Amino acid sequence: MTRKILVTSALPYANGSIHLGHMVEHIQTDIWVRFQKIRGHECYYCCADDTHGTPVMLAAQKQGMAPEDMIAQVREAHLADFTGFHIGYDNYYSTHSPENKALSEQIYLALKANGKIESRVIEQLFDPEKNMFLPDRFVKGECPKCHAKDQYGDNCEVCGTTYSPTELINPYSVVSGATPVLKTSEHFFFKLGECADYLKEWTAGTTTLSDGRIQPHLQAEALNKMNEWLGTDENGNGTLSDWDISRDAPYFGFEIPGAPGKYFYVWLDAPVGYMASFQNLCNRIGLNYEEFFKADSQTEMYHFIGKDILYFHALFWPAMLKFSGHRAPTGVFAHGFLTVDGQKMSKSRGTFITAKSYLDGGLNPEWMRYYIAAKLNSKIEDIDLNLNDFITRVNSDLVGKYVNIAARAAGFITKRFEGRLKDVANSQLIQKLAAESDAIAADFENREYAKALREIMALADTVNEYVDANKPWELAKQEGQEQRLHEVCSELINAFKILSIYLAPVLPKVTERAAAFLNLNGLRWADTATVLPEGHAINKYEHLMQRVEQKQVDDLIDANKQSMQTAAEAAPAEESKYAPVAEQASFDDFMKIDMRVAKVLNCEAVEGSTKLLKFDLDFGFEKRIIFSGIAASYPEPAALNGKMVIAVANFAPRKMAKFGMSEGMILSAATADGKLRLLDVHEGAQPGDKVG
Ligand code: MSP
Ligand code: ZN
Repeated sequence: MTRKILVTSALPYANGSIHLGHMVEHIQTDIWVRFQKIRGHECYYCCADDTHGTPVMLAAQKQGMAPEDMIAQVREAHLADFTGFHIGYDNYYSTHSPENKALSEQIYLALKANGKIESRVIEQLFDPEKNMFLPDRFVKGECPKCHAKDQYGDNCEVCGTTYSPTELINPYSVVSGATPVLKTSEHFFFKLGECADYLKEWTAGTTTLSDGRIQPHLQAEALNKMNEWLGTDENGNGTLSDWDISRDAPYFGFEIPGAPGKYFYVWLDAPVGYMASFQNLCNRIGLNYEEFFKADSQTEMYHFIGKDILYFHALFWPAMLKFSGHRAPTGVFAHGFLTVDGQKMSKSRGTFITAKSYLDGGLNPEWMRYYIAAKLNSKIEDIDLNLNDFITRVNSDLVGKYVNIAARAAGFITKRFEGRLKDVANSQLIQKLAAESDAIAADFENREYAKALREIMALADTVNEYVDANKPWELAKQEGQEQRLHEVCSELINAFKILSIYLAPVLPKVTERAAAFLNLNGLRWADTATVLPEGHAINKYEHLMQRVEQKQVDDLIDANKQSMQTAAEAAPAEESKYAPVAEQASFDDFMKIDMRVAKVLNCEAVEGSTKLLKFDLDFGFEKRIIFSGIAASYPEPAALNGKMVIAVANFAPRKMAKFGMSEGMILSAATADGKLRLLDVHEGAQPGDKVG
C-alpha cells in the first residue's frame, strides 16, 4: 500500500554559506526521499531557509542591507548549491513567509489557550549603545573560573565551564564594545515543565506504520540523551525548565500577537517553517494539508537533523505540536558531524569546504553523494571525509566497478546484434542480483546506506568476475560463439540495469543517463524483478562518469584556503603579532566614517583615571572635548599641545564614566607590544580638513 510521507532537513540559517557539513544532511535526506519515491510511495521533501533572529539581523546591518533583501539573496544562493548537488526538494521555502507567520501565531495562540504560556519579568544584559538586549553569544568577557579573556556569555572555551553572561568579568557587547547593563523585560515562556509526562511517553514511544513496521520516535542514543534532560533532581522535581520564546525589539522576526515590541524567538518559528513550507506546497499542487497535520493524522512525518539540534526537535517541537492540537513527528533522525581527514572542518586548513567551491571547481556532485552515503548509517556517529579515501573509493567503486559493466558489454550489443538484447530470464547471475532487492531496500529504509552500498558493490564484483570468467572479447573472436556472446552481454546489460536501480537514490543523474542508455522510461524499484524482453533495443553507450583526479581535490582545498585569506578569521591571533584583517568594507561603509584633522588646544591627564587623556580640540568648524584611552603611552600629555591629530568627527558621543561626554574618537595605531601611537599629519593640513 502507498504510504504518505512528509520529510524535512533542518532549515539552514540565512546568514552563512552552505558547506559540506550541511550537505551531509541534505544528501542523507535526499537519498531516503528518492528511495521512497522510486518504491512508489507518496513522499514530499520540504525545506526552507531559517531567516529570523539576531545574527541574521546584525549580518544584514553589517552589509548595509534590509534583512528582507539579504535573506532573499541568500536563499537563492543556498538553493543553487543544493540543486547543484541534485537535492530534489518538493519545496524550498523561507521562514519569512505569510504561511509561517499565520501558523506560528496559530500555534502560539493555541498553546496560550491551553494554559501553556506564561509571562515573567526577567533580567538580561542590555547594550546601552545599540539599545538592544544581548543574546548570550553576543556578550564576551573574562571567564569567572579560569580568567581566560574573550570568552562567550554562555561557556568558556578554555576551561569548559558554563555560566550565565552576568557572571563574566569585565563583560562587553560584541556588537558595540560597550559595557552591558542589566535591564528587566517581560518575556513569554512555554511551560515545557508541564509537558514532561507527555514528552517521556513520546520520546520513548513508537508508531506502528501502515505496513506493520514499528518505528521508534528516536534513535537509542538520542533517547538516552533526552532521558537526561527529562530526569528529576534530588528532590524529585522535574529538571525540564520552561522555555523563553520571546525576544525584545529590535529583532528580525514575527511580532507576537497582542504584545507589541515582542517577537517570537527564532527557534519558535523555525520548526513551524516545516509546516509552512509544506502548506505552501499543498496550496500550489492541491494536496490536503490537514490530512498531514491533524492530531490523528495517519501520515508519516520525519525530520533529518544534526545531533546539535536534537533538544529542539525531540523536546520543544513535539510538545509544541501536541499542545497546539497537531500530530507529533513519526521519527526524528539525527546524524553526526562531518570531519575532514579526521579533524573538525577548519577554515585555515582549507577543509571548511563550501558547496559552491566544490561545484565551481568542476567536481562531480555524485562523487560526494556516493562517498557520504558510503559512510552513513542510522547512528549518531561523526562521519569522516578522508580525501585520499574519497579519490580511491569513487574511482574504484563507481568508475571501476559500476560504470565499467555497461562499458564492457554495450559495444558488442551495438556492433554485433543491432543493439538488441536476448531474453535472459533464466540467468543465474540476474537471479542472484534480483534476490538482494528486499535486503537492500531494507537497508535504505533503515538509513543503513553504508551497508546497502557494500552489498551493491559486492554484487558489482560478482558481475565483473563473471565478465572475467566468460571473456566476451574472446568469445567475439571465436567461431560459433555468437549466441553465447549475445547471452553474456545481455546478462551484463540486465545486471547493469538492476545495479542502476539500486544506486538510483544515491546517484540520480548517472542513473538517469543509464536509464536513457537502456532505453527505459525511468527506473522503478519493482523492475529489479523483471528482465528486459527479447529484442529490447538499447541506445549507444556514452561514458557515464569520469575518474576523480588528485589535482581536483588539491585545487579544492587551495580554493577554500584562499577564500579564507581575505576573510576575517585569517590566522589565529596567537600565531601572529598582527590583528586579523577585518571583514571587507564597501566604499559606502568607508564613507560613513567622517575623519577630520584637528588641532590639540590642550591635553591633560584625567584625575581618577589611569587610562584617559582629555583633549580640547579645534575642528575648525567647532571646538570639542574628546577623551582618549592613551594615557599609558603618553606620560607627558602637555607635550601634545599644538600638535595636529586625526579624529572621527561623526562618532556617536559617549559618556566616559564620571568624567563627562567624549565627542569623537582620536585615531592611533596599536603596536604589537601594546602601545598606542597617535597619527601625524603633514604640514599644510588645517583643522577641519576631511581625511579619506
Ligand atoms: N537553523 C537551524 C535549524 C533550524 S531547523 C527548524 C540550524 N541551522 S544550521 O545552518 O546551523 O545547521 C543546519 C543543519 O546542518 C543542522 O542540522 C546541523 O546539525 C547541520 N550541520 C551543520 N554543520 C554540520 C557539520 N559539520 N556536519 C554535519 N552536519 C552539520 O541549526
Ligand atoms: Zn574558563
